[in-house]
Amino acid sequence: MSHVLSAVAWPYANGPRHLGHVAGFGVPSDVFSRYMRMAGHEVLMISGSDEHGTPILVQADKAGQSPQEFIDTNHRVIAEDLAALGVSYDLYTRTTTANHDDVVQRMFLACWHNGYMVEQTQQVAISPSTGRTLPDRYIEGTCPICGYAEARGDQCDSCGNQLDPADLLDPRSKINGETPEFRDTEHFFLDLPALAEALGEWLDGREASGLWRPNVIRFSQNILAEIRPRAMTRDIDWGITIPLEGWQENPTKKLYVWFDAVIGYLSASVEWARRLPGDQSERWREWWVQGAVADQLSYYFMGKDNITFHSQIWPAELLAHNGRGAKGGEVGPFGELNLPTEVVSSEFLTMEGRQFSTSRNIVIYVRDVLERYQPDAVRYFLSAAAPETADSDFNWPEFVKRTNTELVAGWGNLVNRTATMIAKNFGEIPEPGPLEEVDEALLRQVREGFDVVGGLIAGHKQKAALTEAMRLVGEANAYVSTTEPFKLKGDDQRERLATVLHTLAQAVLDLNTILSPYLPHSSTAVHQALGGEGEFQPMPVVQTVSDLDDPERPDYPIVTGDYAGAPRWAHRPVAAGAAVAKPSPIFTKLDPSVVETERARLGLVGQQDPV
Ligand code: MF3
Ligand code: ZN
Repeated sequence: MSHVLSAVAWPYANGPRHLGHVAGFGVPSDVFSRYMRMAGHEVLMISGSDEHGTPILVQADKAGQSPQEFIDTNHRVIAEDLAALGVSYDLYTRTTTANHDDVVQRMFLACWHNGYMVEQTQQVAISPSTGRTLPDRYIEGTCPICGYAEARGDQCDSCGNQLDPADLLDPRSKINGETPEFRDTEHFFLDLPALAEALGEWLDGREASGLWRPNVIRFSQNILAEIRPRAMTRDIDWGITIPLEGWQENPTKKLYVWFDAVIGYLSASVEWARRLPGDQSERWREWWVQGAVADQLSYYFMGKDNITFHSQIWPAELLAHNGRGAKGGEVGPFGELNLPTEVVSSEFLTMEGRQFSTSRNIVIYVRDVLERYQPDAVRYFLSAAAPETADSDFNWPEFVKRTNTELVAGWGNLVNRTATMIAKNFGEIPEPGPLEEVDEALLRQVREGFDVVGGLIAGHKQKAALTEAMRLVGEANAYVSTTEPFKLKGDDQRERLATVLHTLAQAVLDLNTILSPYLPHSSTAVHQALGGEGEFQPMPVVQTVSDLDDPERPDYPIVTGDYAGAPRWAHRPVAAGAAVAKPSPIFTKLDPSVVETERARLGLVGQQDPV
């Protein structure tokens, strides 16, 4: 049994989430966390809305709202959508809590104390037309390292290197195309070169584990070569106060949004513990402080545009806090904190062969898709066609096809005909007679599925795991064709009928357990169709809470849940005698017209598919 931290990327509260977002961080982190709980681990799954930074300001402005109104609306929508999708966070919170401010400021001070936060003069871009600071990501230009013409002021998406706007050749404002002017400004820089050796050692150790996806470890090691100090403060008034004299009074300088967002993993763990009943407010240490308990593991889930922040900036902050860089130092106030065990990054999902684009309406929001389709149909597709190690596509013909052939005609039909035959012939799960080889063979295969599928999920090969689970569903359907229970009529065949239906019920129950990390909503329906009671997979809930420290801040929704009742990842014998009634279908078959309706919504009807 290990303590497993499931750290899920924090969505920007600048709008609702679309399918591309949740394909990268949402569904994979939930499948993994549910499986790890079932396998007996102590899982802490945390995340929240990322609410600081310039994009929030710019878009709140556009929406004619104050930043606070804007994030309040978006945070609620995102939290509700993630809960409706069934993502089983222990805590989904936000970065505008007083608790988060406090943890972030203590981390900053620890890094500063140890000498890894250094003051430097930097050039800041100013818009000549407005006189206002132009944030890094609103400047575009040519990358000085690889020559990519559309590099952003903070990062080049082609070579992955971190940039400063002043580095860009031919810089221009993304807002209105004008050429920015540069002015000197003082900022705090994280001394990444002083942490590079420690980062390299950590990455070498991670590479040796053989666990990371090859492209993620390679990318992380490559960017070490270009490492240099990075500004961790910004000229902006929306963010967390810099907790030092001479700075904290200045309303125009705040901590950089990425400095604070990654600390959310720690602050959310602290908030989770503080919200537990009784005297458990220090329990976050079990997942974070080296040696607090035996066997600590931490997994970070995200899309590939986030790798740098999780394999370089965040571990660097942790090392600086721990006093583990070239400048030494002492262990900070949180104790010696664990670095990530694994950075689990997905590639991108496209939509009908195109990049998701809110401006061009090539998008489907989580809320809309859940209004029209079953959450498990969405989860199934995103898992089966996941951008796990290569980009993959969401498109409506495939969605309809997979839903109808795999979920409805494959798994749903197996459950349905099993329950129907049992209801009609016995009204309860029958006692079996002697098992024949064909019965034993099916039960053996399904039972072996626990190790095979579980091992693949633990190794972040969720697509292969789902393929194997669905292969077993196919075996169970083939068993029905071989044994032909619908032809077993008459008293002399009644014992054989009971044996076949008992065997099928057993296979369905075990397959339901195996599929339940992917299909948590419908797992309860399957469980009940075969005489089970209550909820099978525990579900997250949305609750409104008050700020723990500051009564002035608004109450806010969180996602949380009690997952102690999660089923074990193990074969459990079917209960002969449990009442089984005629079932209703678990999954909804989609009409082929869905494809045209949905493509029309995207404005794609009559258009050529991109090649
Ligand atoms: N908000 C960022 C994004 O959507 C992700 C932040 S992950 C965090 O790209 F851990 F840094 F918060
Ligand atoms: Zn580049």
